[in-house]
Amino acid sequence: MSETSPRPHDAQALLSEEHQGSPTVQPAQPTHTRKLYLESYGCQMNFSDSEIVASIMDEAGYATTRNEEEADLILLNTCAIRDNAEQRVHKRLTQFKRAKRSRPDLVVGVLGCMAERLRESLLEQQKLVDLVVGPDAYRDLPNLVEQVHGGQKAVNVLLSREETYAEISPVRLDANGVTAFISIMRGCDNMCSFCVVPFTRGRERSRDPQSIVREAQQLFEQGYREVTLLGQNVDSYKWNIDNKGQIKNPDEPVVRFAELLELVAGVHPDLRVRFSTSHPKDMTDDVLHAMARHENICKYIHLPVQSGNSDVLKRMNRGYTREWYLDRIAAIRRIMPDCAISTDIIAGFCGETEAEHGDTLSLMREVRYDMAYMFKYSERPRTLAERKFEDDVSEEDKGRRLREIIDLQGGHSQERAEGMVGRTYRVLIEGVSKKSDEELFGRNTQNSIVVFPKGAHKAGEYVNVHVTERVAVTLRGTVVENG
Ligand code: 5AD
Ligand code: SF4
Repeated sequence: MSETSPRPHDAQALLSEEHQGSPTVQPAQPTHTRKLYLESYGCQMNFSDSEIVASIMDEAGYATTRNEEEADLILLNTCAIRDNAEQRVHKRLTQFKRAKRSRPDLVVGVLGCMAERLRESLLEQQKLVDLVVGPDAYRDLPNLVEQVHGGQKAVNVLLSREETYAEISPVRLDANGVTAFISIMRGCDNMCSFCVVPFTRGRERSRDPQSIVREAQQLFEQGYREVTLLGQNVDSYKWNIDNKGQIKNPDEPVVRFAELLELVAGVHPDLRVRFSTSHPKDMTDDVLHAMARHENICKYIHLPVQSGNSDVLKRMNRGYTREWYLDRIAAIRRIMPDCAISTDIIAGFCGETEAEHGDTLSLMREVRYDMAYMFKYSERPRTLAERKFEDDVSEEDKGRRLREIIDLQGGHSQERAEGMVGRTYRVLIEGVSKKSDEELFGRNTQNSIVVFPKGAHKAGEYVNVHVTERVAVTLRGTVVENG
C-alpha cells in the first residue's frame, strides 16, 4: 500500500505562504431583514452543509432563528439514507403545510438528499413545499427563494462534479465555540449496493487543501479547539491527482488524506483533529502513522464494517473481505494500541442467512468495538441492491438480528468504558454537563465523554482528568492537574 506523495512539509510551506499572503477579509455586515429557520436531519455532512446554507442566506439578508414561528423561510435539510429518516421529514412537512395556512407568506423548502428523488411528489403531487434544492445547488438558493416570492415554485437539483463550496465561510450553527466540522470532500464514488448516497450527492470530489487549512486556522483563532474533517470516504481524499493516479500540476503538491491530516494537525498543537468516515478498503497505514505521529490527531477511528461475512460484503459491493477488514483492525491496534474504534452495522441485508448474521456477531466479539451505529436494512430506490437482490429477510428476523447486535455491542461498549476507569486522560472541555451546572463535560482523545466537577475551569480548556468511575459509558472523575 505504498503510495507516491511529496513530503508533507513541502505542502506545509506552500500552504503557510498562501495563508500569510491572504489575510481574512470579513464581508461587510449585510442588513438582515428576514429570518431563516433551518432544520437538519441525518449525518454530520448534512449539519455541515446547513452551515454553508446559513452563510449563503446570511449574505442574502437572512438571519437564522431557532424559533420556527418567527421565520419567513423554513428549510429542511433532509436525509434519504433509510426509509424512517424520510418518514420523519414527511411528518414535519405536513406540519409546516398547516402553518402556511395562517402565514401565507411563509416559504418552505426541502434541501439535501431527498431533493432529487422527491422533487416531483413534494412539489406537484402533495404540494407540500415551494422550493426543492439539491446538495450541489445551494449557491442558487437566494435566486430560487426570489423566484418563489415571484409566485413560482423553484427547483434546482443539479449535481456537480466540481462544487465544494471551498471559499464559503460556514456560519456555525448550534456552536459550542469549541468543536466544529470542516467538510473536506463531497459525494461518493463507491456504489455500495445498499446506499443511496452516490445518487443523492453525486460524484466524489475533494476540496482544495489550502481552503481547508485556512478554515482550521480561522477556527483556532476564534477559540475553537477541535475540528472534525468530514467526507463520505475520507481515505480517498486527493488533491492534484487524477483518478488514474497521475499528477495534474507538477508545480503544486499532491495532497492525500494522510498529508491533509498532518497539515491540519500542524495548525496548532492545541487544535485537536478528528475525521469521519474511514473506508476499510482505502484506509492505508500512512494514515495510521500520521495519526500516531501527532498527539493532537485524536485516537479514534470510525470504520464501518456493515457485515462480518465476506459473501454479504461482496453483495454489498464493499470492496473488502472479513479478513481484509480484520487486518485493518490489527494494523490500528499495532500502530496505536490505545485507539478507539467504532463501526456501522446493517442487520438483515438481502439474502443474509442466520450463519452470515452469526459471522457479524463473531466479528464484533473479535474486534470489541467501543461504539457502533446499528441499523436494519432498508431498501432504497435506484440502488444496486434494489435492482439486483430481493429484500427477503423478514421484518421479524431483521428486528431480532438487530437486537442481538445491539445487545452484544452494549456489553462491549461498557467493557471498553470499564477499561478506562482508573486512568488519567487529557480532556477538552466542551461545556456544562446536562445533569448538573456544577459539572463540566468534555472528551478524551478516544471520544469518550468525561464528566467532572467544574472548579475554575471552562469550555475550550484542556484538563487532565483521573477517571474514578463510569455510569453506563460516561466516565466520571476529577481534575488532577491543568493540561
Ligand atoms: N439501510 C440500512 N442502513 C444503511 N446505511 C446506509 N444505507 C443503508 C440502508 N439502505 C447505513 C450504513 C452506513 C450508514 C451511514 O448508514 O451502515 O455506513
Ligand atoms: Fe454509501 Fe458506501 Fe459511499 Fe458510504 S462509502 S456513502 S455507504 S456508497
